[in-house]
Amino acid sequence: MNDKKTARNEGIILREIDVDAILIKVLKEDREDILREVTDSKLKGRGGAGFSTGRKWSLAAEARSDQKYIICNADEGEPGTFKDRVLLTDYTDALLAGMTIAGYAVGAESGIIYLRGEYVYMIDHIHDRIKNRYENKLLGDNIAGKKGFVFNITVRLGSGAYVCGEETALIESLEGQRGEPRNRPPFPVTCGFMGKPTVVNNVETFITALHILDKGAEWFKKFGTDKSTGTKLFSISGDCAKPGVYEFPLGITVKEVLTHIGARDAKAVQVGGASGRCVAHDEFESTLAFEDISTGGSIIVFGPHRDMLAVARNFMEFFAEESCGQCTPCRYGVEALLEGIEMLEQRKCSMKYLNELLGLCETMQVTSKCGLGQSAPNAFMSILKNFKHEILSRDSAR
Ligand SMILES: Cc1cc2nc3c(=O)[nH]c(=O)nc-3n(C[C@H](O)[C@H](O)[C@H](O)COP(=O)(O)O)c2cc1C
Ligand code: SF4
Repeated sequence: MNDKKTARNEGIILREIDVDAILIKVLKEDREDILREVTDSKLKGRGGAGFSTGRKWSLAAEARSDQKYIICNADEGEPGTFKDRVLLTDYTDALLAGMTIAGYAVGAESGIIYLRGEYVYMIDHIHDRIKNRYENKLLGDNIAGKKGFVFNITVRLGSGAYVCGEETALIESLEGQRGEPRNRPPFPVTCGFMGKPTVVNNVETFITALHILDKGAEWFKKFGTDKSTGTKLFSISGDCAKPGVYEFPLGITVKEVLTHIGARDAKAVQVGGASGRCVAHDEFESTLAFEDISTGGSIIVFGPHRDMLAVARNFMEFFAEESCGQCTPCRYGVEALLEGIEMLEQRKCSMKYLNELLGLCETMQVTSKCGLGQSAPNAFMSILKNFKHEILSRDSAR
């Protein structure tokens, strides 16, 4: 059921605010009050997994250590996702202030922005904004006159591996190792960067937390649904009249989004990028929310003319390229699914083998070590489920 409460065009994130005034105000509060407010807001991380931000910050705050770290995950490698790019360039100070508040709340002195390699063009801009904040005593020692509060931010560049967006692979990469996911537990909140308690959050999460601490958890909860509070940014691309970055309240239906962006004739929508799932016409009343169709914000629209098997091939080629190869279900599975798609293209795939491939998908979901392998079959499975007739009746000469 759609229990959405709100006015849809009132933005939370894409809004002009006095960032420095909010930071100064928040730094006057007790750490416990900040943690409580973020927890009460029921904010869930905007990077895709949807873990409670208040809980993550509280766990890191409770951890005892001489050093703690705040990491901003600005890797943004999910195909079809480009909303963090907008935040990093147009809302840079809000991000830096959000990270600073996270540092204050959990007791960390160091922040690192892990920036997608392809975003190197914006690094000078980010460095300029950081420098400006040091000059204005909004970074560094005794921030905003708060004696003893120290917080520094540096920027580190990734090198284009999608798996390095996964938080433990990101940490490995930051430590100078190969970007391969770690076993969990331990989780980064207790044992992260350099073995120290580490909060890893998405760009949008830090900025949303800043807004929550400005206006309060109750205000934030007026947007979205009971289980998915607030608004969310969506990167919208594909066969639509108005692609771009949009802010919508969570709980909006796929159909409402399609109407908004001029895509009424869409035959399918890939929600959540390559690792998300393909939503067909008969599910367009479903909502974009953690309790229904969960997403980090990528929406790719497919018009009536699209060949959905070609779409599945495109995604699977991506995973075959990006799997780190560390564990067998993923390393072998993505190749086997890609081969299966080729057999379907040539009409050489029997129903028996197709069913075996679907069984393999389930094995990958359950046994792969990280989210890449666990989610790699999603597109294949949902496209096959929704477009079985189109795929099995296709002309092999295509
Ligand atoms: C393969 C893979 C790639 C990921 N890429 C990103 C990314 O680019 N940005 C991001 O914020 N989270 C990404 N994540 C999710 C992170 O592991 C982590 O959950 C997130 O950064 C936590 O931040 P949040 O709680 O604010 O969402 C990725 C996960 C996986 C499995
Ligand atoms: S699931 Fe894939 S990407 Fe993740 S650790 Fe295993 S091989 Fe590497």
